[in-house]
Amino acid sequence: MVSIDKTKFGPWAIVTGASSGIGREFARQVAASGLNVVLVARRSSLLEAVGQDIAQEFGVDYRTIAVDLTEDGFLAKIEAATHDLDIGLLISNAGTGVPGEFLHINPDVLLHIVRLNVITHLMLTHHYGQKMARRGRGGIVLVSAMGATAGIPYMANDAATKAYITSLGQGLHAEFQKSGVNMTVVLPGPTETPILDAFGFDVSTMPLKPMPVARCVAEGLAALNANRATHLTGRLNRFMAALIPSAITRKVNGRMIARGLTAGQPRVAHLNQ
Ligand SMILES: NC(=O)c1ccc[n+]([C@@H]2O[C@H](COP(=O)([O-])OP(=O)(O)OC[C@H]3O[C@@H](n4cnc5c(N)ncnc54)[C@H](OP(=O)(O)O)[C@@H]3O)[C@@H](O)[C@H]2O)c1
Repeated sequence: MVSIDKTKFGPWAIVTGASSGIGREFARQVAASGLNVVLVARRSSLLEAVGQDIAQEFGVDYRTIAVDLTEDGFLAKIEAATHDLDIGLLISNAGTGVPGEFLHINPDVLLHIVRLNVITHLMLTHHYGQKMARRGRGGIVLVSAMGATAGIPYMANDAATKAYITSLGQGLHAEFQKSGVNMTVVLPGPTETPILDAFGFDVSTMPLKPMPVARCVAEGLAALNANRATHLTGRLNRFMAALIPSAITRKVNGRMIARGLTAGQPRVAHLNQ
């Protein structure tokens, strides 16, 4: 676990997608540094369980906000539940994708992904970025994905939304220097979370083995501490990304995802929890 500065990033942090996987682990590791945490996702019972666990283990306070981040008015709901809190850290992590042939995916589904993976990050970053700049200190972590900027076949829309996140964060990293707000884009490589099952990936055939979620998050927080613009998790992932031309990576990813698809049907069940 990596500890973060409570004075700069506290007293409260907000973590989206905190009911599962990478977001849940961010909430845990941030709480371990003594920050109180606002937990955001749709499944309220899971958020409550995460909150009770971190309160008991680390003696911090928590709040849960059960909200669908793709709905109009999601930001007003979050603001109403947090306006009295001094939030010094935003972990904008909630996100997903729908593997499948682009032309066979319903445009409503594609737009759902754009709302979750683009609009939510944009609005939260603008809202909490303003508040943190006024405080003169704070931090924002945007969770993107490895390889997205080069394009990923059968996840073309999903990868494109992550490319947006990466570009947004890189631009703001420079812009925020003068305001005392750290900005880091975390690019997870394959990581052991339920999303891999939801996508139908067969882990045994993946070219890169998924890494433990605790390590992914610890690397992300270390990058935030160092105020790195971007951080690709996993030494082997960084090595591969530096060495292998993106055309080859695209081909390998495309083959792997195509294998996981059954008859070209997109996997949309996880979009509606
Ligand atoms: N695991 C990997 O290999 C990997 C690789 C690259 C990038 N990532 C990125 O890492 C982030 C976290 O993914 P994960 O692996 O931790 O997956 P996960 O375990 O499926 O978690 C996804 C989280 O997002 C929340 N979420 C999804 N749709 C939502 C909505 N409409 N409104 C509010 N919350 C919503 C989910 O909560 P509810 O269902 O309770 O709403 C859940 O807490 C994502 O942005 C993902 O793209 C993961």
